Amino acid sequence: MKSKSQHKQKILITSALLYANGPMHFGHLAGAYLPADCYARFQRLQGHDVLYISGSDEYGMAITMSAELAGREPREHVDLFHGINKKLFEKLNISFDHYSRTTWPGHVPVTHAFFTDLFKAGHIVEKVTEQLYSEKDKKFLADRYVIGTCPKCGYDKARGDECGQCGTSYDAIDLISPRSRLTDSPLTRKMTKHWFLELENFKQQLLEWLDTKDWKSNVVKFIKGYIEELHARAITRDMTWGVPIPLANTEGKVLYVWFDAPIGYISATMEWAQLKGTPELWKDYWLDPQTKLVQFIGKDNIPFHGAIFPAMCMGQSQPYKLVDELPANEFYKLEGKQFSKSDGWFIDLDDFLTRYSSDQIRYAIASNAPETSDSEFTWKDFQAKNNSDLVGKFGNLVNRVLVFAAQNCGAVVPEVQDPQEVDQKFLSEIKTLFEELSEAYRTFRLRRACQLLMEIAQKGNVYFNDQKPWLAIKQGDRASVSRTIRYCMECLRLLALGAYPIIPEAAEKIWRMLGMKAEINLQDELKGEQPLGKSEILFQKLEDAAIEAEIAKLRGPVQEEEEATNLITIDQVRQVELRVAKVLAAEKVDGSQKLVKLKLDDGKGERTIVAGIAEYYAPEQIVGLSIVVVANLQPAKLRGIMSEGMLLAAKWGDKLQVVTVPGAPPGALLS
Ligand code: MF3
Ligand code: ZN
Repeated sequence: MKSKSQHKQKILITSALLYANGPMHFGHLAGAYLPADCYARFQRLQGHDVLYISGSDEYGMAITMSAELAGREPREHVDLFHGINKKLFEKLNISFDHYSRTTWPGHVPVTHAFFTDLFKAGHIVEKVTEQLYSEKDKKFLADRYVIGTCPKCGYDKARGDECGQCGTSYDAIDLISPRSRLTDSPLTRKMTKHWFLELENFKQQLLEWLDTKDWKSNVVKFIKGYIEELHARAITRDMTWGVPIPLANTEGKVLYVWFDAPIGYISATMEWAQLKGTPELWKDYWLDPQTKLVQFIGKDNIPFHGAIFPAMCMGQSQPYKLVDELPANEFYKLEGKQFSKSDGWFIDLDDFLTRYSSDQIRYAIASNAPETSDSEFTWKDFQAKNNSDLVGKFGNLVNRVLVFAAQNCGAVVPEVQDPQEVDQKFLSEIKTLFEELSEAYRTFRLRRACQLLMEIAQKGNVYFNDQKPWLAIKQGDRASVSRTIRYCMECLRLLALGAYPIIPEAAEKIWRMLGMKAEINLQDELKGEQPLGKSEILFQKLEDAAIEAEIAKLRGPVQEEEEATNLITIDQVRQVELRVAKVLAAEKVDGSQKLVKLKLDDGKGERTIVAGIAEYYAPEQIVGLSIVVVANLQPAKLRGIMSEGMLLAAKWGDKLQVVTVPGAPPGALLS
């Protein structure tokens, strides 16, 4: 895995900043974080000077709307999700050198410097335009929060930017009877002043720059098309949550989130440098043309990274690096549909990681990465990849070689005197595959990397089978046993190095089991007689029953919804016993973010139920309420607690409200 050019290179890697308005999901991971992490780990192994930066995107209407729905102040909302996501990334072994946030105070001066440079050079101009305004909410609404009647086909649920029926795109202002998507209240037109970035000033420079890139053809084509159509874009908004505009008389307006967010990559690097005690060090990366800037994003972020942010940088007085590589990934869906938390089409990563390892999900995503077309997570594929690849090929080789060595080779790396042709051929074949594997990492092809990794493991399994060391033992041919096991161990060493970018936990375990003392690295070779470390099983098989249960959980809420439209008989209704119960006590369930344990008075006595409402209610808010429970539900154990019934609650968007019957006595029957 030696790099062709041996010199040490500065590689600045970024992953798209994640909106701090909800927990990260597999789609984010597959698009921007896992591929970047694998690349960062690979390049660190090569000995390059890697800096991997990301953080939370904390301004904009995506934040304020979501905060409002959750009944939180924007500040509280982003604090909450910044913390949640940072922890999730740690659990997933995403090896950021720094994970910052755009509400870091140091983000403001750089953003202002960007604005001011562009402003002074005449690239930012002031215009007064008409925008859609909600009298009810006293605010202007972003396009994505507007619906109305399509001016072309008359479809009455057309979105603010594009009609879902006829596909026409237009400005939200052109919709007939526009209204708020959230509150349904009508919108009016109102004049407002904004600052526009004259992007067409950069058109020629952008096209020439793009010509020097050999990125994926669909990415280049998309950007080119975008540049051809470049026009002035408003970079300010009528709201108060955001980076202030560095001009006088701009109260009630802030910079548009897509103006400040990409600058967040730079401010995050500044924060990293400050925390290291070398505040100027960020310049070594952002202002040095020798640095290679590699930005990992999902395809919906292509225009901002491939045209708008580069244009913003071209308009600066400081020579900021422009992106060198833009590995933009397609979408990663869940069982064929987009992830959607509000529809229940979602896997809670935190919960997922209580049952599966980060290596397992990393491998499942990498082996099916959305590199050239959309791909999806399916539980069946997750099971198949785990069982056939990680357990059947990879784990199997590691285990059989190391168990055999512990029993028959004195638990050390065997010394070899006279390798035979078959041993040398084996080694040269796996080394060739290993070179190919390195090339796959270098060119952002994780699917290919996974295939090659398994090819190496399979070569090892075949070699072990063909050499039959168990027979050689019986025949007393020690030399043959030593050769076979030693060459299998050479294979394990390459597997550890080759697997490290994708499944770092397993790779490091193999490294230790081989008796290597230093951190995993390309230079250290196995030494004859080196004692092995303690061996352990790397991956467990996933049983059908467990996977079926996961699938059932996922389909649960969706099926319920579908069936709700089917008609049922009055007898079926009567089967459900709904009763009022009074909440006597409530406490959060340990180790769960969602569950609350409630002690109820149901009219006959006490009963305990466990409900998934912790994200919406503090325990003390529920105590004393007269709620409605399904009283004749079969008890079920949740997190070790027996739950005797379920409560009724309404759920819409990001909200949840428990059904209450104030004043009704415990035990009262609903009918
Ligand atoms: N938060 C944005 C999204 O999820 C991505 C921001 S990337 C940055 O689509 F470049 F603006 F930082
Ligand atoms: Zn239409």
